Amino acid sequence: MSSILKVNALSHWFGSNRVLFNVNMDIKRGQIVALVGPSGCGKSTLLRAIVGTHPPCSGNVTMLDKEQPRIIDTPGRDRGIVYQRYSLFPHLTAQENVAYGLMVDQTTIASRHLFKRREWSALRKQHMAEAADMLERMKLGTALKKYPPELSGGMCQRVAIAQALVMKPAIMLLDEPFGALDEATREELQRILLGLYAQNMDATREGREPPYTIMIVTHEINEAIFVSDRVLGLSQYWNWKEAGEPCAPGATIVYDQPAPIFSPDDERDFFSFRGQKNDILHAVFDPSFCQSAKEYIQLANQAQGGATH
Ligand SMILES: Nc1ncnc2c1ncn2[C@@H]1O[C@H](COP(=O)(O)OP(=O)(O)OP(=O)(O)O)[C@@H](O)[C@H]1O
Ligand SMILES: [Mg+2]
Repeated sequence: MSSILKVNALSHWFGSNRVLFNVNMDIKRGQIVALVGPSGCGKSTLLRAIVGTHPPCSGNVTMLDKEQPRIIDTPGRDRGIVYQRYSLFPHLTAQENVAYGLMVDQTTIASRHLFKRREWSALRKQHMAEAADMLERMKLGTALKKYPPELSGGMCQRVAIAQALVMKPAIMLLDEPFGALDEATREELQRILLGLYAQNMDATREGREPPYTIMIVTHEINEAIFVSDRVLGLSQYWNWKEAGEPCAPGATIVYDQPAPIFSPDDERDFFSFRGQKNDILHAVFDPSFCQSAKEYIQLANQAQGGATH
């Protein structure tokens, strides 16, 4: 599997508040990675560095989806993000909301003027068709013409995911996307993610590149294991004294393990991954367990030396 995104020796602080320390990650194309960690450990800060709105204080984020690696310091359409609170335009239909980004990305203000009316209208038709297709994939085929206030929270969140995916980002980032939803709706959305992963597996079987690479931040460990094929744990509870730090330097990656693969129709059999859940609780969330993060820090130090790709 080829790498699509690397986080190299990334550290971030706000004044004297040291939040992230030497974070190192290598995300492969087609993975669905869940990122878990204690509240306030810096998960959103890490996502903001990847999105490019808040570049790191040291280290870097590198995209590898094209031939030439690119260090990220601004937002770009190769990285989509969906937050817990979706922000849809209330006066546009679901379909128009999804088509909006394509329109802004692919047309200039001049081309939207009268002179180019015919081209503009053909392009709009194409954008609306792509939006409809993506909404169908999100199982929202019947809601194309509905406005956000007419949709449930779960449906709006699916529109927001469609809005991000229609731009075909190299990686989609989800920051606690289902946090505001009730359990049943949450499960429905988890199965949508499993559906995307199933499409990745189909693509791989057919020799195509898997279309979706996703990183999802969640504080729900069951959810993390159920929807992903890899769980990363970010935590401030690690043995930083061993790394020679005089005081707590911030959170780093302390857990990185594959997760079982489920298909959209599978039972949510939490019992089967109870052992992994306990491991994560211990390694990532337990303040009294300060494990060594040596291997992750070592990787980060290599990255600082430029040996990552
Ligand atoms: N813009 C900012 N200015 C100053 N401090 C900030 C800023 N953004 C985040 N922080 C601080 O950085 C730390 C990490 O915050 P962050 O939101 O990344 O954590 P999180 O893991 O996403 O938390 P949660 O699980 O609650 O969403 C916190 O101590 C927070 O107060
Ligand atoms: Mg957060």
